[in-house]
Amino acid sequence: MTSTQVFRAAILDFVEDPFHCSPAESVRYFPDGLLVLQGGYVTAVGAYDELHSQYAAADVVEYPNMLIMPGFVDTHIHYSQTQIIASYGKQLLDWLNTYTFPAEGKFKDKSHGQDIASFFLNELMRNGTTTALVFTTVFPQSVDAFFEEAQTRNLRMIAGKVMMDRHAPDYLTDTADTAYEETKALIQKWHKNGRLLYAVTPRFAITSTPEQLQRAGQLLQEFPDVYLHTHLSENVDEVAWVKELFPEAAGYLDAYDRAGLVGDRSVFAHGVQLTDAEFQRLSEAGSAIAFCPTSNLFLGSGLFKIEQAKSAETPVKVGLGTDVGGGTSFSMLRTAHAAYEVAQLRKQTLSPYQALYLGTLGGAKALNLDDKIGSFDVGKEADFIVVDCRATPIMALRNPQATPQTLDALAEQVFSLLVMGDDRSVRATYVMGELAYDRANAMDQRG
Ligand code: GUN
Ligand code: ZN
Repeated sequence: MTSTQVFRAAILDFVEDPFHCSPAESVRYFPDGLLVLQGGYVTAVGAYDELHSQYAAADVVEYPNMLIMPGFVDTHIHYSQTQIIASYGKQLLDWLNTYTFPAEGKFKDKSHGQDIASFFLNELMRNGTTTALVFTTVFPQSVDAFFEEAQTRNLRMIAGKVMMDRHAPDYLTDTADTAYEETKALIQKWHKNGRLLYAVTPRFAITSTPEQLQRAGQLLQEFPDVYLHTHLSENVDEVAWVKELFPEAAGYLDAYDRAGLVGDRSVFAHGVQLTDAEFQRLSEAGSAIAFCPTSNLFLGSGLFKIEQAKSAETPVKVGLGTDVGGGTSFSMLRTAHAAYEVAQLRKQTLSPYQALYLGTLGGAKALNLDDKIGSFDVGKEADFIVVDCRATPIMALRNPQATPQTLDALAEQVFSLLVMGDDRSVRATYVMGELAYDRANAMDQRG
């Protein structure tokens, strides 16, 4: 028998989608709550007053004035671009050639991959991200380096080898056949190995020949429960080039569709330039979009139409992606803040709860993992974070009362957290009930 773990703090998660119902129906909040775990899984969540007598014998870990939430889910990020975050002055296609490809070339050396994977996963923990869908590089050893490090930490991570057989430097290209063979071997090695899952990962339609996309589709047929992860309709010049490269396709998404890549386990990063017909197709297929607002602003790609993706007519699953290194922060709080600002620029809005949902349960749904992570439903894996909404002097001034008592007051606090918060607000990160990061210790070590 593993022992029971009990945590006491304010507790917040989602039980429904706040884009489609009221806060009262979608938000679950206990100003003084208990989260109870057994063997790394949630066994109870509720009000302290109602639950505590059942756990009188257990040691309770108390986080006074803190908020416990599910860990963040980052639906699109490149571990291989960690070192080139914040690279100046280019839009997508030039940025890839100038900064990205040379950085990815270094991952031929497995030890480089190991060093960066370790740094990257530390950074995710510091930012409270417990699950991510991750681009590696074309080198299988960069996939091994990532998964090995993730496995050591017992993290639920999804990743895959980048497939790329044209329009990239020779040192970074595979072929349709080698991509197929190497991917197949990696699926067999890593998919469902512990908490790890595999995503077939053609970089985008520009860097894969139609033959390579077909081979990717073949892998999805052979392994129906792996993911498909790629980029889609991010930048105007990119979309125009895809049309030239795939003259027979009706548009960018159709280039993927013809290869059998558009399904309910497909996650497409960006979607900034999608047409109405493409939104419709994504909706029908049950595919997901990773909305990457800091990247879309930084690379000057454009403003994603969140209201169209979340519309009742053509609903598409949406999560938030940091898209580091095109994105400018590992923080999902900063990313949610940017999502709000993108909505503002389009004269739309994104409520605090909607934005937070995208980074937690919405992301889990986008990854078809909402039966395992993303909220505190009984039986889910206990990946959670302890958040300080008063982490800086200005945040404390803005939130004189540490623990809101109503959903309206909580919405105010959550909004200020999204707008002003970042890694400084992540007090602790737990993975399957184990402490994986403690800000207090990290600060001590820095001296
Ligand atoms: N499209 C193809 N590759 C990439 C990449 O590495 N980053 C971004 N943002 N878009 C891409
Ligand atoms: Zn990307």
